[in-house]
Amino acid sequence: MITTNTDKAKQVLENDGIIGFPTETVYGLAGNALSEKAIRSIFQLKNRPLDNPLIVHVSSLDKIDFITENMPNKAHQLADKFWPGPLTLLLKKSDKISDLVTAGQETVAVRIPNHPIALKLLESLDFPLVAPSANPYQSISPTSAKHVADYFENELTLVLDGGFCEKGLESTIVGFEDDDVVIYRLGSIPLEDIEACVGKVKMNTGRDLKSPGMAKKHYSPKTPLIVTKNIEEVLQRLDNRKRSIVCFDQLPNVQEMENTIFYSFHGDLDFAASRLYSLLHELDDQNLDILIFEEFPNIGLGKTINDRIKRASELK
Ligand code: TXA
Ligand code: MG
Repeated sequence: MITTNTDKAKQVLENDGIIGFPTETVYGLAGNALSEKAIRSIFQLKNRPLDNPLIVHVSSLDKIDFITENMPNKAHQLADKFWPGPLTLLLKKSDKISDLVTAGQETVAVRIPNHPIALKLLESLDFPLVAPSANPYQSISPTSAKHVADYFENELTLVLDGGFCEKGLESTIVGFEDDDVVIYRLGSIPLEDIEACVGKVKMNTGRDLKSPGMAKKHYSPKTPLIVTKNIEEVLQRLDNRKRSIVCFDQLPNVQEMENTIFYSFHGDLDFAASRLYSLLHELDDQNLDILIFEEFPNIGLGKTINDRIKRASELK
């Protein structure tokens, strides 16, 4: 099931099938963006509501015109700077893109991934690929081929192996309203880098749920998770439950170690971003009672990580 053979992947896709698809952010569940059958299969596999639109992936800028119209200047600036890369742009869709992909919206989400195998596969196809993250609705995104195979062992015939995802967090989603640049999802490109390119941005509040990736509960492990600025205080409050304590940098100075797995990202934000989801997958397999995460510094990728762990901490 797990293979590095892009020809086999191509064959499945040309027959309206779905594959596990490596990118630099997270793995996707990919299918032909022009095939209604493939699109419907993806929604079904993920158990994802049809009102939650899909991202379209292409291999180069010259293929963007086929699926979009009227790309604003600021979108061009961002594309020039960050593509191929973990940037998704919300652009006016062309009539080639069905309402099923965009959940009836006028905009389509587009990105050029920066991953050699993803690009090689996309270049070999004469259609774009839709690919949401390859996890069941609301659970942790996969950052290895094995994560995908574990989630969909009975449903997928092929997962294309591109190794561990270098970035480890989803793309940053950016839309355009009049002259404003609007962030719909924090992601692998820090907010500061987007603003250095196009000036001050606005945040989409998610109130209208235009981008359900901003839904409050999301990215969740099965184990309850809490986020705190003060680990010692939480430890005093909680009894001897089996737990993991995950810190950005210094581990807390506590005596009692029983029932506790300690983990530190050694103060390295890039490392923390690339490792976060695989750590959540591992900890979720340990049958712990609770995961205690120290809040990250609220800068750069720390903002994206705080966003994800806070959503993961929402009660089910
Ligand atoms: O890094 C990524 O973006 C990965 C890799 C596989 O490319 N894909 C990914 O897809 O994270 P997904 O479907 O898990 O998240 C895409 C988010 C969803 O929350 C969806 O609601 C939002 O993008 N989205 C898609 N089209 C949209 C649109 N037209 N307007 C607003 N939000 C949109
Ligand atoms: Mg997702």
